Amino acid sequence: MRNSLDMMRRERTLLVVLLLILFHHISATKQHLCPPSSCGYITHITYPFRLQADPENCGDERYELGCENNVTVLYLNSTQYHVQAINYHNYTVRVVDPALQHHNCSSLPLRSLSRSNFSDTYTYSTDPYQAGLDPDCNWEYLSFEHIVFLNCNHSVRENGKYVESGECVKWDSKGYAYAVGGDLKAEDLEVGCYMKLVAPTSFRTFNKHSYAAIHRALAYGFEISWINLACQNHCPHEFCYFNSSSQTLVCDPFAFYGGILEAILVWLTGKILSS
Ligand SMILES: *[C@@H]1O[C@H](CO)[C@@H](O)[C@H](O)[C@H]1NC(C)=O
Ligand SMILES: *[C@@H]1O[C@H](CO)[C@@H](O)[C@H](O)[C@H]1NC(C)=O
Ligand SMILES: *[C@@H]1O[C@H](CO)[C@@H](O)[C@H](O)[C@H]1NC(C)=O
Ligand SMILES: *[C@@H]1O[C@H](CO)[C@@H](O)[C@H](O)[C@H]1NC(C)=O
Ligand SMILES: *[C@@H]1O[C@H](CO)[C@@H](O)[C@H](O)[C@H]1NC(C)=O
Ligand SMILES: *[C@@H]1O[C@H](CO)[C@@H](O)[C@H](O)[C@H]1NC(C)=O
Ligand SMILES: *[C@@H]1O[C@H](CO)[C@@H](O)[C@H](O)[C@H]1NC(C)=O
Repeated sequence: MRNSLDMMRRERTLLVVLLLILFHHISATKQHLCPPSSCGYITHITYPFRLQADPENCGDERYELGCENNVTVLYLNSTQYHVQAINYHNYTVRVVDPALQHHNCSSLPLRSLSRSNFSDTYTYSTDPYQAGLDPDCNWEYLSFEHIVFLNCNHSVRENGKYVESGECVKWDSKGYAYAVGGDLKAEDLEVGCYMKLVAPTSFRTFNKHSYAAIHRALAYGFEISWINLACQNHCPHEFCYFNSSSQTLVCDPFAFYGGILEAILVWLTGKILSS
């Protein structure tokens, strides 16, 4: 009697597992039946992205892009950014603040944005985009540098990191306006200087002593990644990282079993403590 009940249970579990696999397979193939869409010069928009006008089952709704006046638009928390390039090999999309104009050094981003606006310090974060904070994921490949805009009540000549934005940017008539490329360390913040704006760039090497070069780097935009989703799809039950030299995702079962072992240990400890 007990045996047949066990067997029924086992069969039912097996059935559920099979159905799950089947369902996963169907939904995975569905995505790939959608023809790529295009908007302006972004011509091969495909999974996980979708355009608002695409059929419902295409792409992932969390990665829905807009197409406004022939410009592909990405939303970060409903703030608009213009898409410059999508790279499906390294899972990155390069975007730029819509207010930045290439040949106008007075144009500035509308909003401050930095790495800390992205929550990928947490491996299991459900944010759609990552900016490369989690060191476990081999993130160094993502270049994400900050440009800090400051306004000072005095001229700062002695600190070489402070680049005068000259005629391009003036915050108010009395102040001295500067930009600093790269992260601003606490010891670099001069007394009487206030942070006005922080904006990211992924331009790899630029002259950090020239405001024209800093502005060009800003107008190039910054890369964010959907690697967490790519990893979930590629190795659903394992830890995963990106090998930038082979440009592939690598599943790491040892880290996964390590995780299970840890969970069991935590559970056992809980049992022992509560008894
Ligand atoms: C949109 O952009 C594409 C590619 O750059 C171009 O061929 C097309 O003429 C543009 N359409 C409009 C309405 O501007
Ligand atoms: C350059 O940008 C500034 C600041 O956004 C703006 O006021 C100005 O009109 C722009 N100049 C041109 C030529 O577009
Ligand atoms: C990023 O975070 C800063 C500080 O919390 C906030 O002022 C800013 O508006 C955020 N940026 C966006 C685009 O949400
Ligand atoms: C999204 O909104 C949250 C809550 O306001 C904010 O903390 C975060 O910095 C925003 N992230 C981005 C990428 O704009
Ligand atoms: C991704 O590929 C693009 C195009 O080759 C490249 O410009 C970008 O730097 C790469 N990004 C990363 C993080 O490897
Ligand atoms: C600039 O501001 C700082 C701090 O508010 C103050 O100590 C300093 O005297 C001011 N310098 C000038 C030249 O106004
Ligand atoms: C990354 O890929 C390269 C080339 O295939 C390989 O030699 C290297 O060992 C890989 N690195 C890691 C950490 O997997």
